[in-house]
Amino acid sequence: MTLRLLGGALLAAIVSLATSTASFAQSSSALEINAPLVSQPGDVVRGRAIVLSRQSGLCILCHSGPFPEERFQGNMAPDLGVSAQRLTASQLRARIVDASVFNPETIMPAYYRAAELNRVASGYAGKTLLTGQEIEDVVAFLVSLKP
Ligand code: HEC
Repeated sequence: MTLRLLGGALLAAIVSLATSTASFAQSSSALEINAPLVSQPGDVVRGRAIVLSRQSGLCILCHSGPFPEERFQGNMAPDLGVSAQRLTASQLRARIVDASVFNPETIMPAYYRAAELNRVASGYAGKTLLTGQEIEDVVAFLVSLKP
């Protein structure tokens, strides 16, 4: 865990170094994504449903959280209630979009990376695990867990 934190700090340092010299806005997106992915605000109720869904979000396959009705929750990843208190909306969004930015060996899927990877091949555009709207819904729900 300490090593991972150290890696994260190093990565943050490298990224901030890169962004301070690069002039294009794209490079600053790695560890925080400030701008919502879609214009319509996220919906807390839909976000909760996605997080608990065994078909779309699959979050509780690995994560636990304040979901008393769910008997089976994951124990391979941090409690989402705790993470939501610790992280900002921009940080949460970045995690969900592409967790490998934070940990290259993460088992957490990148929920919104395919669109970028396949930008050239139009047939694959938009084939992400979650849509931009769904990501915003999940972020809105997680933010709602803050006290
Ligand atoms: C296959 C397992 C898996 C799935 C599915 C998964 N995650 Fe994760 N997630 C992890 C692991 C493991 C971590 C710990 C950091 C790492 O290794 O990347 C993590 C980290 C996170 C973090 C940062 C936690 C912190 O306190 O730093 C957030 C936020 C998060 N996940 C949200 C989600 C959401 C929302 C979903 C569903 C849309 C999801 N995860 C699905 C495994 C998973």
